[in-house]
Amino acid sequence: MIKVTIDGIELEVEEGTTIMNAARKIGGEVVPPAMCYYTSLKGSGGKCRACLVKVAQGSAKDPRPMPKLVASCCTNVQDGMVVLNSTSPEVLETRRGIVEFLLVNHPLDCPICDQAGECELQNFAFDHGLQKTRSEFHRREFDPIDIGPHIKLHMTRCILCYRCTMVADQLTEERVHGVLWRGEASEISTYIQKAVENDFSGNMIDVCPVGALTDRHFRFRNRVWFLNPMDAHRNCSKCSGKVVLWMRGEEVYRVTARKDQYDEVKEFICNECRWDHYDTKDWVVEGPRAVEKWSVITANKYSKETVELPEQLFSKLDNAKWDSFEGVT
Ligand code: SF4
Ligand code: FES
Repeated sequence: MIKVTIDGIELEVEEGTTIMNAARKIGGEVVPPAMCYYTSLKGSGGKCRACLVKVAQGSAKDPRPMPKLVASCCTNVQDGMVVLNSTSPEVLETRRGIVEFLLVNHPLDCPICDQAGECELQNFAFDHGLQKTRSEFHRREFDPIDIGPHIKLHMTRCILCYRCTMVADQLTEERVHGVLWRGEASEISTYIQKAVENDFSGNMIDVCPVGALTDRHFRFRNRVWFLNPMDAHRNCSKCSGKVVLWMRGEEVYRVTARKDQYDEVKEFICNECRWDHYDTKDWVVEGPRAVEKWSVITANKYSKETVELPEQLFSKLDNAKWDSFEGVT
């Protein structure tokens, strides 16, 4: 085990741990934001620069500071390293710049974007961005296209984090989309439109941090803050079958995988669970999903008394889960 200090908090971690994962062991403000890193996707990280931190002391052996800010998601800790994240004005200033860069081509169309309310870029800009844009340049534009029967690609909103290509590479049998061209011309695309069709393709939507990849069956049917997310599961031969049902009254509007506090999917789900079972009879509904206090989804904060669910479903819910449920975390 080796020692590292992040924002004044010392902890011991295993050798080979990244600064990001060491910070996640502490939690809270100490954790740098991440727009491209994704724990379960091998090779992710190092693209967006949202997670830059200052290394004030390289290690106990060589205490010199690192000359530039480093990407915490792909820099391993050294014994005796001292890292500054939210306590460094330089890091916070740089992060404001990173938000501006990510928004150079990203439209400010949150009011009509399907991802609003659960968009990682929206949260990142809210926490670290400037209130006004300084960019006067024309943003690049693309027409939305269907890539496969379930997914709509709005390339205009893509921040080129590469997460979706890694899902396609690592979770599905064959990858038929990727990043075409280079530099400013780069874009996510398929050679053959409508080509993305495999059992786990829906996970590309869940990992996309912005509204570039959206669910064609859910788009514009509702806003996430009007829905009640409920944990549910079913027996599935292809995946764990553990999902979140996004419900309004009796109706299931969409099915997604469950995510952790860093907005990362815990267990990837198959397309059958995601799109073929919109009836609550197909699911064992476990109870309401705890939602972070700051999330707009809590605008529709639910409790056993206020949640809009049919009586017969309540009777099926696990009472213990309701009893321990505190609404928001
Ligand atoms: S479409 Fe979404 S997940 Fe894919 S690279 Fe763009 S922002 Fe990332
Ligand atoms: S999260 Fe580290 S570079 Fe994107």
